[in-house]
Amino acid sequence: MTIDNLKIPTVALGTWAWGDSGETGDGYFGSPLTRADLEEVADKAHAAGFTLWDTAVVYGMGHSESVLGEVLKRYARSDYQLSTKFTPQAAGAGEDPMADMLEQSLARLGTDYVDLYWIHNPADVARWTPHLIPLLKSGKVKHVGVSNHNLSEIELANQILGEAGFGVEAVQNHYSLLYRSSEDAGILDYCRNQGIPFFAYMVLEQGALTGKYSPQNPLPEGTNRAKAYNGMLPQLKALTDRLASIGQSQGAAAPDVATAWAIAKGATPIIGVTKPNYIDGLVRATSMTLTGGDIAELEALADAANVNTRGWWEKEMQV
Ligand SMILES: NC(=O)c1ccc[n+]([C@@H]2O[C@H](COP(=O)([O-])OP(=O)(O)OC[C@H]3O[C@@H](n4cnc5c(N)ncnc54)[C@H](OP(=O)(O)O)[C@@H]3O)[C@@H](O)[C@H]2O)c1
Repeated sequence: MTIDNLKIPTVALGTWAWGDSGETGDGYFGSPLTRADLEEVADKAHAAGFTLWDTAVVYGMGHSESVLGEVLKRYARSDYQLSTKFTPQAAGAGEDPMADMLEQSLARLGTDYVDLYWIHNPADVARWTPHLIPLLKSGKVKHVGVSNHNLSEIELANQILGEAGFGVEAVQNHYSLLYRSSEDAGILDYCRNQGIPFFAYMVLEQGALTGKYSPQNPLPEGTNRAKAYNGMLPQLKALTDRLASIGQSQGAAAPDVATAWAIAKGATPIIGVTKPNYIDGLVRATSMTLTGGDIAELEALADAANVNTRGWWEKEMQV
């Protein structure tokens, strides 16, 4: 029952890595990020029409939101959409921890509303979902979604919001060639049938599916993503090689094809953008055509890699 419709882009922009300090090898991602680079990323993204930014309190414990807020100061607030999250595990002890966490996010982001507010994970659906309702009524939150929820949890959240005249307006889960649990569990079908946009995160498996990392050139030493992915890079080579060769035939690169795959499956990918030239990849991804044969072949290669990329914060989607 929100007044303005949520504008769903073809691709959304992820800023988890923006929570890192920017020093090489430091933090979750360990990408060297400078303020000037991030401004260039934002300028390129906006010029190309990508204007939905996804962040969360827990990305660098406020740092991603603060940096994003600073970088976006150069645009009118109506020229971009902000998506951030309530993380139950980081809830404070106040009377309404969700309202408190939102206020802190608004302050860091330098705004008085967010376009899309998510419950980051289903710690307790019956407890936390109702807290969204006053935030929607206040106008500080325009639209709401749930992340990392399984199908029955999405349905429960939708029912709770529905009783107040609202509803789940977006779902955000891990979904990549290597991790298709939301599809297997019927969540993509449910979203399609209900007209709920499905946002796919970690479509590039934090860089492991881009083809630029290999046993010879592993993910940055000492980072969380290195621990998660470096051991499986040899198994991913056949898949990333095929992503690259499909891309080559259309003037595109492996990550563009992985992104185009998610779009072809009906998802809105949220791609972690750490360098200005990655925006060119998003432009290519949105104008590529993958055949049914390409998709089947990529999925078969992904299955043959036989790896499990479930994040440590995620639970199985099958119930
Ligand atoms: N709701 C949740 O629980 C949840 C969980 C995870 C993520 N997310 C959201 O989803 C977003 C995306 O996930 P993610 O950032 O974790 O991982 P991702 O999008 O799978 O991968 C991002 C990494 O891929 C590399 N990359 C991106 N575009 C590239 C290109 N065109 N060419 C070569 N390399 C490229 C970059 O690595 P380098 O920096 O090494 O170049 C970048 O850091 C997050 O930023 C966050 O907003 C949500």
